[in-house]
Amino acid sequence: MTQTSPQGKPLLDTVLGHRQATPPIWIMRQAGRYLPEYLKVREEAGSFLDLCYNPKLAAEVTLQPLKRFDLDAAILFSDILVIPDALGQSVRFEKGEGPMLEPIKASDVARLDPERVVERLAPVLETLSRIKPALAPDKTLIGFCGAPWTVATYMIGGRGSPDQAAARIFALEHPEAFSALMDVLVEASALYLAAQFKSGADMVQIFESWALNLDETAFRTNVIEPNRRLVARLRELIPGAPITGFPRGAAGMLAEYVEKTGVSALGLDYATPLDFASSTFAKTLPLQGNLDPLRLVAGGEQMRTRAREIVSAFADRPHIFNLGHGIVPQTPIDHVADLIATVKGTRD
Ligand code: CP3
Repeated sequence: MTQTSPQGKPLLDTVLGHRQATPPIWIMRQAGRYLPEYLKVREEAGSFLDLCYNPKLAAEVTLQPLKRFDLDAAILFSDILVIPDALGQSVRFEKGEGPMLEPIKASDVARLDPERVVERLAPVLETLSRIKPALAPDKTLIGFCGAPWTVATYMIGGRGSPDQAAARIFALEHPEAFSALMDVLVEASALYLAAQFKSGADMVQIFESWALNLDETAFRTNVIEPNRRLVARLRELIPGAPITGFPRGAAGMLAEYVEKTGVSALGLDYATPLDFASSTFAKTLPLQGNLDPLRLVAGGEQMRTRAREIVSAFADRPHIFNLGHGIVPQTPIDHVADLIATVKGTRD
C-alpha cells in the first residue's frame, strides 16, 4: 500500500505530502465529553471501556463530531490504554479520576504477551469496519495508538502523573525489564496498528503525550528508539503506512525525533513556536497543529487571530490544522464551529 499519489482525501493527501489550498482540519479528542450527544451514549454504555469495546456505539460516537462539524477526518473512538488491557493488566476508568491501572513490577514484564493483543482488540477493529462505509469518500479515517513510552508511564505509574516519576525511575533502575517492556509494546502496537489499516484506517497517529520531562539521553532511549522501531515494524507489515507522530513536549528534541523515527507528518503541541517550526523542518514535511485548546474554550477574536497566524505560518507546506493537545470538556460547541469556519475561510 505505498501511497504517494493523491487519494482524493484532503487530510490523508496532506499527510502524504500534498499541500492543500485550504488546510484540512480535525481536532484531537474530537469525540467526547464536550458533546451532549456523546454524554448520552456514554451514559447508556456502562463503563468507559465497555463503550470502547462496543462496536456499534463506538462507531456512532466516532461519527458524532462529523455530523455537527465540517471536519476532514474521523478518529476511531477508543483509548490508548486498550493495549495494557489487552495485555492482561487491570485497567479501570474512575469518574473524575482518569485511568487507574494495577501498576506492573519489573518481574511482571515477562508475562506480557503481544501476540494475543490483536485478537483481544477485535471489537475495536470491528468499530473501524463499521465506520468505514458510513464515511463520505473525501473523509479520512484515522486509527491510533499510544507510543510505547506514554503507555508505559500508565502501566508503571498506575495513573497519569505530572512528572511520570515512577516510569522514569523504573527505566533507570530496571533497564532490562524496561527494554523488554518497550519490546512488548513496540510489537503489540505495530500488530494492532497494522490490523487497524486492514480494518479500514487510512492513516494512523501515534500519541506520545508524555514526551516531556526527559533529558536527551532518556528521550533517545524512551521516546526516539521505541518510536523508530514501531514505525519501521509497522511499515514492514503495511508498506508506506502514513503515520503522524505527536510527541507532546519534545521541544529541543523535535528535529531528532522526526529525522530518526521516519514519521510521515509531525503533530506540534501548542508550546512549539510557529517561526521555529517553520524554519526548522523541511518544507516537504507535513505539520499538524497547533492551537492551544484553551484558546478554543475562550473563543472569539483572540482565537480567530491565532488560528489565522497558524494557517499563515504553515501556508508554504502541507499543513493539517488541529489543536496542540486534546479538546477539553468545557469547550463551548459554537466555538468549535467558529474555529472550523475560520480555518476553512482562509484561502490562497
Ligand atoms: O480523539 C478522539 O476523539 C478519539 C478517542 C480518544 C480517547 N482517548 C477517548 C477518551 C483518543 C485518541 C484518546 C487518546 C488518549 N487517551 C491519550 C493521548 C492523547 C492525549 O490527550 O494526550 C491519553 C494520554 C489517554 C489516556 C486517557 N484516557 C486519560 C488520561 C483519560 C482521562 C482524562 C481525559 O482526558 O479524559 C482517558 C479517558 C478518555 N479517553 C475519555 C475519552 C472520551 C473520557 C472518558 C469518559 O468519557 O468518561
